[in-house]
Amino acid sequence: MYICLCHGITDRQIRDAVSGGCCSFREVRTSLKVGTQCGKCACTAKGLVRETLADPLFIPARQA
Ligand code: FES
Repeated sequence: MYICLCHGITDRQIRDAVSGGCCSFREVRTSLKVGTQCGKCACTAKGLVRETLADPLFIPARQA
């Protein structure tokens, strides 16, 4: 599902960025540019990052 229409970023890409080592919305934003144009997706993207980090099955790449 598209989260950021301005940059064509999907929920999958955001989850993959977190799995790949991004550990905050700020890092995901820097990496994918999500939320950097109109900003309407920022709240949803931030929630998705939080949700992914809070997932008990989630293992960050930095600790894997
Ligand atoms: Fe993401 Fe516009 S929808 S910056």
